[in-house]
Amino acid sequence: MASITLSGVTKVFGNSRVLNTTNLEVADGEFLTLVGPSGCGKSTTLRIIAGLENQTTVNVMIAGKKVNDLRPSRRNLAMVFQSYALYPHLTVRQNLEIPLKLRDLSFAERIPLIWSCVPGAREKVDKIGKVVNEIAATLKIEHLLDRKPGQLSGGQRQRVALGRAMVRKPAAFLMDEPLSNLDAGLRVHMRAELAGLHRSLKTTFIYVTHDQAEALTMSDRMAVMIDGDILQVGAPNDVYNDPKNIRVAEFVGSPKINILPGRTDPSGVLSCLNVNLSRRLRESVAGDVSIGLRPEHLSLQKKNAENCFLGRLTYKENLGSDVFLYVTINDEAHQVIARATPFEGHDVAIGDDVRLYLVPDKIIVFSADGNRLQLV
Ligand SMILES: Nc1ncnc2c1ncn2[C@@H]1O[C@H](COP(=O)(O)OP(=O)(O)OP(=O)(O)O)[C@@H](O)[C@H]1O
Ligand SMILES: [Mg+2]
Repeated sequence: MASITLSGVTKVFGNSRVLNTTNLEVADGEFLTLVGPSGCGKSTTLRIIAGLENQTTVNVMIAGKKVNDLRPSRRNLAMVFQSYALYPHLTVRQNLEIPLKLRDLSFAERIPLIWSCVPGAREKVDKIGKVVNEIAATLKIEHLLDRKPGQLSGGQRQRVALGRAMVRKPAAFLMDEPLSNLDAGLRVHMRAELAGLHRSLKTTFIYVTHDQAEALTMSDRMAVMIDGDILQVGAPNDVYNDPKNIRVAEFVGSPKINILPGRTDPSGVLSCLNVNLSRRLRESVAGDVSIGLRPEHLSLQKKNAENCFLGRLTYKENLGSDVFLYVTINDEAHQVIARATPFEGHDVAIGDDVRLYLVPDKIIVFSADGNRLQLV
């Protein structure tokens, strides 16, 4: 097991800067997700940790030791890729054995027929077989050991790729979008399996994804990276409920957070599209702010009440357990999404005038430059 620390790491490809000064601390045994939109620099960060890419400036530490100049194979990390990277001409068993054979056997001990003449080789080979059997049992792929990767489903292939990473008992696992080739149902299933695997292995996991749902559901902490900057690191709930930046708020959560224009009056009280929110900011900010409201904090209101937007329903997205209502407000200048129960959703039709209650305590306020502002 190992902690992993990046401090002041930057990366430039040619003329373009891909990672700005990146600091990240991953604790020993932690499951950290690095999440962000496509092209923000997640894989590059992971490859720098693995040693597959040089950082432009220092430092990468693994288990307290500086590894900047250490070759990938000497870092004792296992990388799992989206593409599985299995050898197609070898069986599952042979795919699982390879990392151990390369590490533990001499050149002669790896040659067919010759190895059995080398003293002590049989013990080593038997030990490798035992480790492979154990890993196959953990991942429930024992019945697949004699098949080739082409004879496996996507989920099974992914499990073999995980197994191949596990056999060496690495200090940490680095995973780059390992589930993105799977269909939606299998992805959800494998999320739970990976989280369970982490609990049983208690090894450091760094998991890269552009899917914020994976980050929210699986990890101890998530690091949100946008355009080469890690903007926030925290427990998934904290990042969701307490985003420090408007870009983090917009990236995390599905459907996206509603962002509406807001103002403070001369006495400091906030309003949003003419709805008085009766809340104040901790610091004084003159003029325009942005008000963030999660869809679950807007609800259909039948009677006239305070803190309501009046609008028109333009679209209903029925997900079975929830219905998301798309409502245009303020003479159709703005659109918001509100969450409703299937029962409430059934009650309204597209084109209806609706009233949406907003929970003033749940608003998340940002300054004009996108930084979080705290309420009193
Ligand atoms: N070898 C390279 N040479 C030049 N530019 C590169 C190289 N590798 C990556 N980049 C650029 O660096 C940026 C970050 O790439 P990276 O692969 O880290 O993104 P990512 O966050 O993993 O995206 P995705 O979610 O699409 O995998 C991209 O703009 C990419 O085009
Ligand atoms: Mg990537």
